[in-house]
Amino acid sequence: MEVILAEHAGFCFGVRRAVDTVYEQIADREREGKPICTFGPIIHNEEVVKDLENRGVRALSGIEEAREVASDRRGTVIIRSHGVERAVCEELRKLGFQVVDATCPFVKRIHNIVEKESEAGKSIVIVGNAGHPEVEGIRGWSGARTYIIESPETAENFTCKEGEALCVVSQTTFNYKKFQDVVEIFEKKGYNASVVNTVCNATEVRQAEARELAARVDVMIVIGGNHSSNTRKLYEICKQECERTYYIQTLEDLHMTLPKSVRLVGITAGASTPNNIIEEVQNYVRINF
Ligand code: F3S
Repeated sequence: MEVILAEHAGFCFGVRRAVDTVYEQIADREREGKPICTFGPIIHNEEVVKDLENRGVRALSGIEEAREVASDRRGTVIIRSHGVERAVCEELRKLGFQVVDATCPFVKRIHNIVEKESEAGKSIVIVGNAGHPEVEGIRGWSGARTYIIESPETAENFTCKEGEALCVVSQTTFNYKKFQDVVEIFEKKGYNASVVNTVCNATEVRQAEARELAARVDVMIVIGGNHSSNTRKLYEICKQECERTYYIQTLEDLHMTLPKSVRLVGITAGASTPNNIIEEVQNYVRINF
């Protein structure tokens, strides 16, 4: 029996980079002895956050908690891949923390565009979910009027001053098709908008690959947290292609018995599933089936 692991299973580039940064900082701290915090949980995966906690890394809930920590013991604060507002970085530095910026370069690019274009006098339009930390972070790099458009419907109802120069960007995980719809509505309305497509295709690539793999295997295993919506989506995609698709959180959930006719098993994983879990499952299936 052959086991095929999807190339883009698990962490995307930006999340992997952020998680690796934390582990690198832990290794450095062992030399320097300074406390380490992350600004928010580094990733939405309990196993990883627990492991970091056990290694003495504290996930700060926000700037208030950072202030409390600062009065006691300063050290390093790592910014996660979503990024944060410029003011948060400045405040953390003022509090005496060493800030290690693990913002995904694709998100950082949006911060730079928004900073530059707002300085040049343009109003900023962010197509994304208001309240999402990434969107709040992007908003925090704009020095001008900033609008958030959550859907094509909001775009239809959106108004601005006549001739107002707009720079339109999107949240990296926003649906590309919907972003295009918003852009089309803006064009139709004749807005003076320069558009930068900042949608990241990591999710799309993962899904397309999972679909293609599920279509050619006898059994498909999808690994990810119970509450992870992107893992659920992956499961649905795979299930459409492969009747024998299993959704598991960790190796412990894997209770399948495979008939002899099974020749090919495919594995993929949601965006917040760590490598070690994927490897464990992969090795187990290789050895035991
Ligand atoms: Fe991941 Fe960065 Fe894209 S965090 S989803 S690679 S924008």
